[in-house]
Amino acid sequence: MSIEPLYGGKQSRRITTSDLIDAKSRGEKWPMITSYDALSASIFDEAGIPVLLVGDSAAMVVYGYDSTIPVTVSDLLPLVAAVERGSSRAMVLADLPFGSYQASPAQALETAVAFMQEGRAHAVKIEGGAHMAPQVELLTHSGIPVMGHIGLTPQSVHQMGGYKVQGRGDAGEQLIADAHALVAAGVFGIVLEVVPHELASRLTSQIPVPVIGIGAGPGTDAQVIVWQDLLGLTPGKQAKFVKNYANLRAEMLSGARAWANDVTNGTYPDLDHSYS
Ligand code: KIV
Repeated sequence: MSIEPLYGGKQSRRITTSDLIDAKSRGEKWPMITSYDALSASIFDEAGIPVLLVGDSAAMVVYGYDSTIPVTVSDLLPLVAAVERGSSRAMVLADLPFGSYQASPAQALETAVAFMQEGRAHAVKIEGGAHMAPQVELLTHSGIPVMGHIGLTPQSVHQMGGYKVQGRGDAGEQLIADAHALVAAGVFGIVLEVVPHELASRLTSQIPVPVIGIGAGPGTDAQVIVWQDLLGLTPGKQAKFVKNYANLRAEMLSGARAWANDVTNGTYPDLDHSYS
């Protein structure tokens, strides 16, 4: 039986956690992208991207906040459900928002259950290292796949003193210890955000589950990105790790201006776009 590649494989079934772990053992790299609505989900699914993350970055790119902290469970749940309906192959991974899982494993379970039942998510992601091991253990023992997230964890931006590179110097050893603790607790993957690339490569080679990098260099098993950053919709200065693969902001601006001009000068709609 031939093995389907994770990126661009057949649309016959949903991607599972085992597919992701198997890809690591084959040395196959793969992409993960954010999505917050059914249409973008259908495009990324058609592109063959195996994991769609409904990130709490929705706080900024959907809801217009200046950090991920204000977004709530009820803000994110309908977005997760939309992404699930818009896709048929990708695993839909839901971020648990700030304040919805840190208090206790029981709180994390209640929130994760809502994302699995109402949102129809296939897995959840939580931020934090070894101190989140009890949450990971209860969720995984309850049948909920969990992805960890360490390094720059945006929900802790105020505690970290800003969006800064993490894991430099001795702090690197703590990150590696955090990754091992999360693996021991049962995560099926770990997002590693904005850390030195040598540290990311070392960590990736030490653990059996995929490491999904963002601003972590070329040595991780997978890469994740916010789609509005990737495709040039986000305005202003971008983080060093962002590379634009399209310029949707310029495209949309010029399309919107052309249509608005045609409306104001009376050339839209013409009779070709009218009913008799
Ligand atoms: O919310 C998000 O988009 C994320 C990614 C940046 C990993 O957590």
